[in-house]
Amino acid sequence: MPPELNTAVPHSARIYDYLLGGKDNFEADRAAAATIVEASPSLPISMRANRQYMARVAHYLAAERGIRQFLDIGTGLPTSPNLHEVVQRVDPRSRVVYVDNDPIVLVHARALLTTEPEGATAYVDADLLDTVAILESDQLKNTIDPAEPVSVSLIAVLQFVPDEDEAHRVIDELMAPMAPGSTLSISTVTAHNPQAVAGAAAYRARGIAVRARTDAEVTGLFRGMTLLEPGVVPVHRWRPDRAAAAIEDEHVQMNGAVAVK
Ligand SMILES: C[S@@+](CC[C@H](N)C(=O)[O-])C[C@H]1O[C@@H](n2cnc3c(N)ncnc32)[C@H](O)[C@@H]1O
Repeated sequence: MPPELNTAVPHSARIYDYLLGGKDNFEADRAAAATIVEASPSLPISMRANRQYMARVAHYLAAERGIRQFLDIGTGLPTSPNLHEVVQRVDPRSRVVYVDNDPIVLVHARALLTTEPEGATAYVDADLLDTVAILESDQLKNTIDPAEPVSVSLIAVLQFVPDEDEAHRVIDELMAPMAPGSTLSISTVTAHNPQAVAGAAAYRARGIAVRARTDAEVTGLFRGMTLLEPGVVPVHRWRPDRAAAAIEDEHVQMNGAVAVK
């Protein structure tokens, strides 16, 4: 266990892991998850819908838009399928850089690095607010060529960046070096679902800053880019497959969208 891992304090990555049915969580995370789910009973359904959205977006970008380089920030604990598995099924040469700042994700990062030999995966242990640490990392420089289109994804993480100016700064700095044709994929907690708002308050009560955003605020995160159809929608309605189409609107607490630079 890394020394900076404080298992007595609940952490968003481990709460998410627990609610997705994972094993990489501790008592404090399970206790926090229980009170959050009391306030927001559909959260586990919403989290699964979000995870499926991540996979649909990654598949779409690889299969329909020919993207072969992926920078996934706020990756989370390994959960099947991981992003690199989705895109390397489309093309085994796909290259993926994962970023997270939770030490427990770092401990399990080996499971994220099981690349096809033709491709590559790398892991950067960094806070997304420190865009220089991400963009200047050896892992990114050795894996991704920003002169070719890159998919940048911030899936279910920007709700933990409550300051709007900070969120805009991070996005602007991450997208600045990326070639035209690069994409930005986001999902984040929506202010339009009362359970999402209650869930956000329950996270805050456990010491985790969470902000629910309006559609207009989510749209604003993509300023200067072109939103792809269907625009900003609840995640299960973004190019749904049959499984996503079966999810009821009231259970989904995240909005998502994808835009092109
Ligand atoms: C809810 S999980 C989402 C995981 C994955 N993207 C998904 O959608 O399935 C949020 C992840 O973001 C990470 N995270 C939260 N704040 C972060 C920050 N400031 N910098 C880097 N990662 C962060 C957490 O450690 C956690 O792994």
